[in-house]
Amino acid sequence: MKIMEVEKITKKFGELVALDDVSIYVKKGEILGIIGPNGAGKTTLFNIISGEIKPTSGKVILNGKEITGMRPSKIVSLGLVKTFQIMRVFSNMTVLENFIAVSPDSLELMKEFALWDKREMRAGDLPQGELRKLGIALAVATKPRVLLLDEPFSGLSPKECLELHRVISRLKEFGITMVIIEHKLRELFNNAERVVCLNAGQVLCEGTPDEVVNDPRVISAYIGSGGEGEGDRG
Ligand SMILES: Nc1ncnc2c1ncn2[C@@H]1O[C@H](COP(=O)(O)OP(=O)(O)OP(=O)(O)O)[C@@H](O)[C@H]1O
Ligand SMILES: [Mg+2]
Repeated sequence: MKIMEVEKITKKFGELVALDDVSIYVKKGEILGIIGPNGAGKTTLFNIISGEIKPTSGKVILNGKEITGMRPSKIVSLGLVKTFQIMRVFSNMTVLENFIAVSPDSLELMKEFALWDKREMRAGDLPQGELRKLGIALAVATKPRVLLLDEPFSGLSPKECLELHRVISRLKEFGITMVIIEHKLRELFNNAERVVCLNAGQVLCEGTPDEVVNDPRVISAYIGSGGEGEGDRG
């Protein structure tokens, strides 16, 4: 069963076509990976799905219902959530205050995510990995059915990456469907069952991690982009 579908999304920023007729779907309970060189349109796609920006044309469908252009808060209430960007809003609050602000009945999650011992710490003082985890935990506190993660592994140490894998596996056990954008392909392929590669605003290919990473079009897209910064293609 398809829990979310993006149908023929196009997004223009003036002359620039950031997304060009993109269609993807996510099955209930799966982890879908999205890869592609810098500027491919991955984050723009997430921003359209979560309602932060409106597409030029096309539809977003959640649980069979069109959500295109709805307010982000409305989309959250329908069960689709992007991880919280703690840096911007909540960094001056403690971990506990963050949980209370987002969902007072979700304090149990602090234990689930091993954040209970950190409850009195200012979010802004947490190490990178813990902060990332808090962002995911707060998103989970809103009880999503679909969770969007944009480069969750970036900037994490190997140890922090390992812990994030555990968190993601746990969320999958809870039945949360996830879409993960990631440049660190090795980390992504540990979790994702299916991968879509975007390039220059279009879907280049889709398949299992193995199929996608060995696809000559994907290889040349990455080489053509002149490398991918911090990524590793494993
Ligand atoms: N608000 C905006 N106004 C104008 N152009 C934008 C805007 N947001 C994104 N773009 C452009 O759209 C294209 C796609 O950007 P996007 O951030 O979606 O890429 P990405 O795949 O997430 O890249 P990265 O891997 O570097 O995060 C880029 O050319 C970018 O400069
Ligand atoms: Mg991006």
